[in-house]
Formats: sequence, structure tokens, C-alpha cells
Amino acid sequence: NLVPMADILQDAHQKTYAVGGFNINNMEFLQGIMMGAEELDSPVILQASEGAIRYIGIDYVMQMVEAATKNIDIPVALHLDHGSDFDSIMKCIRAGFSSVMIDASKLSFEENIALTKKVVEAAHSVGVSVEAELGTIGGTEDDHTVEEKDAMYTDPDQAKEFVDATGVDALAIAIGTAHGVYEGEPELDFERLDKIKKLIDMPVVLHGASGISAEDLKTGVKYGVNKVNVNTDFQQSFTAKVKEVFAEKPELYDPRKYCGPGREAIAEKVKEKIKILGSDGQA
Ligand code: G3H
Ligand code: 13P
Ligand code: ZN
Ligand code: NA
Repeated sequence: NLVPMADILQDAHQKTYAVGGFNINNMEFLQGIMMGAEELDSPVILQASEGAIRYIGIDYVMQMVEAATKNIDIPVALHLDHGSDFDSIMKCIRAGFSSVMIDASKLSFEENIALTKKVVEAAHSVGVSVEAELGTIGGTEDDHTVEEKDAMYTDPDQAKEFVDATGVDALAIAIGTAHGVYEGEPELDFERLDKIKKLIDMPVVLHGASGISAEDLKTGVKYGVNKVNVNTDFQQSFTAKVKEVFAEKPELYDPRKYCGPGREAIAEKVKEKIKILGSDGQA
């Protein structure tokens, strides 16, 4: 029942909206995300990091996602988040993922192209979509100098050369977001995003979207972001709810009594994000 991520993102690219790339950490995350997406009739990209796959187990990931997508009528992709090497990506493709990310952004531009191209050839031959990354996402300080920004952020002309050389389905770019919790107020380089989008004219991915304001997310979507990755915001919603439950009833011991409300909190947060991204009603 999984669809290639490229199908979901092409529609978003044509119609100027974005789809959540929402990380699953455990069963409650998966169920909470599906509850929110189904309720709002939204396509969704379920993504598992290598860390999450180690934690859950790849067979459990596959079987849980199969159960979660059995009787649904929204498009769902299962995507490997930040795949680090060819072997790790092949394991996910063999297991049945419908999309993978190769994150070779730490390598040189040429090496990034070479490895990404190799992944695209293997993945596309079996109908699996590929996301790649160009630039440096992360670094939570918001006071980068212009030279630092130019070194870290995605260069528009390189982006064009990269997508032409590799044939990727989506490109993750660096415009000032960072993974995890922000220390200062993040400042996004929308001018750079606008330039990149106009040059590459294909689906663009924004990582580290937790902690980015609704207004900035909407501006990002307006300038062509089609996939928005969120993990930390859901982790915080889940954990805050669990703490709240324990503050009220410290004697609790049944995990269903606190994981259930945590799952509910994720579903609420998912709905909030979907409405901001404009993917509600797009299924
Ligand atoms: O981009 C990274 C995601 O937030 C996944 O994080 O490696 O802790 O699962 P993780
Ligand atoms: P956040 O944890 O900052 O939301 O980032 C998620 C992400 O980019 C996953 O690839
Ligand atoms: Zn990321
Ligand atoms: Na973030």
C-alpha cells in the first residue's frame, strides 16, 4: 500500500503545498501520525532514521507500517531518513521502503554527486524514490557571518548542477534550519530558497523544521518547499504529555495510561503541522 515518495511530492510541487516527513520513533508515533493524517485527509511521508531502525528493528518497522496502512485511503510513503551509506540504503530498499535519503552532504561536492548517483541508479531501477542533501544543516547558533553562511548554505548554481547530474527526486537544502532544539531565533534565507527553487524546479525538502514558526513554514512553502521534516516537536509533545499525566497521577504504572495520551498529543501536533503545510484535503 506504500507509494513512492516522488508521486506524493510531484503533486505538492505542482500545487505549491508541502507534505510532512514525520519521524517514527515507536508504535505510538506511527499511530499518532496516521491518526492525524487520516483525519485531515492528507498524504504523509513516514520516515525512520537509522537510529530509529536500530531501536525498533527493521522487521518491526515494516510490519507496523503494513498494519498502519492496510485500510486507508491516503497516500503514504515509507522513507529512510538520513541514510548514511549504500549498504544501509540497500537494506531498506530490500525490506520494502518506498523511498530513501542518501545524506552525503559531509562529502565533497564531487563525492556527494558520485554516491548519490549510485543510489539513484539502484533505487530507481526498483521504483524507489531518492532524496539527497546539499549544504550543511545544523549548527544552532543564529549569528553566522556572511562568509560562514555562504560556506554552509546550499549554493543555488551547485544545486542545479547536482540535481542534473544525479537525477534525484527531491533535494534537501540548507537555508538556516538545524536539527533539534534552537538556541536562538532561527533566521531562514528565503531569498536563497527562492533562487534554488526557480533554478531546479523540483521538490525541495526542509529539514530541522521543529521550532520553526508557522509563519516561516508558510513562507517556506510559498517559495517552494514540498517536504517538511519534523521529529523533535513530536518528541516534545509526547514527553510533555507523559510528564503532565505523571504530575497529576504519580502512582500510575500502566504504560497504556500515559503512552495513550502521548499518542493523542502527537496526533494533535500532526494536525497542526498539516494545516500549516497545506496538505490537508490533498489525499
Ligand atoms: O534528522 C534526524 C532525525 O531527527 C532523526 O533523529 O537519529 O535521533 O532518530 P534520530
Ligand atoms: P527536527 O528534529 O529538528 O524536527 O528535524 C527533523 C529532521 O530533519 C529529520 O530529518
Ligand atoms: Zn534531517
Ligand atoms: Na529543529
